[in-house]
Amino acid sequence: MREFEVENQKLLLIKSNGEFSAIGHLCTHYGAPLVKGVLSNGKVRCARHGACFNIKTGDIEEYPTLDGVQCYPVKVQNGKVIISASAKALEANRRIKTMVTPSPSIKTVILLIGGGPASLICAETLRQEFYAGRIIIATKEQHLPYDRTKLSKNLDISIESILLRKSEFYSTYGIEVLTNKEAISVNTGKRRVGFKDGTSQQYDYLLIATGCIPRKLSCPGADLENVFSLYAPEDANKIHELSNEKDVVIVGSSFIGMEITWYLINKAKSVSVIGTSKVPFQDVLGKDVGTAIMKLS
Ligand code: FES
Repeated sequence: MREFEVENQKLLLIKSNGEFSAIGHLCTHYGAPLVKGVLSNGKVRCARHGACFNIKTGDIEEYPTLDGVQCYPVKVQNGKVIISASAKALEANRRIKTMVTPSPSIKTVILLIGGGPASLICAETLRQEFYAGRIIIATKEQHLPYDRTKLSKNLDISIESILLRKSEFYSTYGIEVLTNKEAISVNTGKRRVGFKDGTSQQYDYLLIATGCIPRKLSCPGADLENVFSLYAPEDANKIHELSNEKDVVIVGSSFIGMEITWYLINKAKSVSVIGTSKVPFQDVLGKDVGTAIMKLS
């Protein structure tokens, strides 16, 4: 794999099994250079979080990311590799797949419970696969689907900056999002989901993608004031607000706990991390890596 610069923009040229292909050079997740990733079996895997792109089409083969990258036609002529790329495509780097819009004559309803990336990607895939019926995402949260993983990295974050798609996207592709709709029952016989606010929704097909919730402390005092779990942007903002010049204790020494520690280190008076393992990240990265990270702090 090799990056090439054209008109101040880059693309990634790949030679695999004797064949050339050219795609966008940046991962559409958080923008890591794909040249640093791994090329294997017709895919390039991003080195950061493992998103995978097809080298012939630029399509996503594995998440986490929503969009594929641009793909440019390549030919070999007189021993030279010739790539055709428009300035617009080079600048965009990413590519949203073509999607259909709903047709009022199709009465099928697909209901997606949960407002995370699984529901959103399901909705988008349905539109990409020419499904033109109704799609409803019902979430108990008050926000459109957002990137929750960013909360622990920046507690002072605004919801607008972490939305996975802006509201116009949903209206353009006819994806209905019901916020503050917590599902509490499913009647599979009648194909109806009941919500906490007393309303209900009929469906033809149902996806339950409710994700996970933080494990709470079960020890005495866990319900005291100023003990928080991090789940939604409001929790992150609250922790940011209250931790200024305070002694902060973080329970959990893996990614989320350590990312919050990193964020608070120059803000709080002190930060103490409590974990069940000997060194941070031990359960996910092993003792050696954990020990090395501990020495850094
Ligand atoms: S930046 Fe590429 S997968 Fe996250």
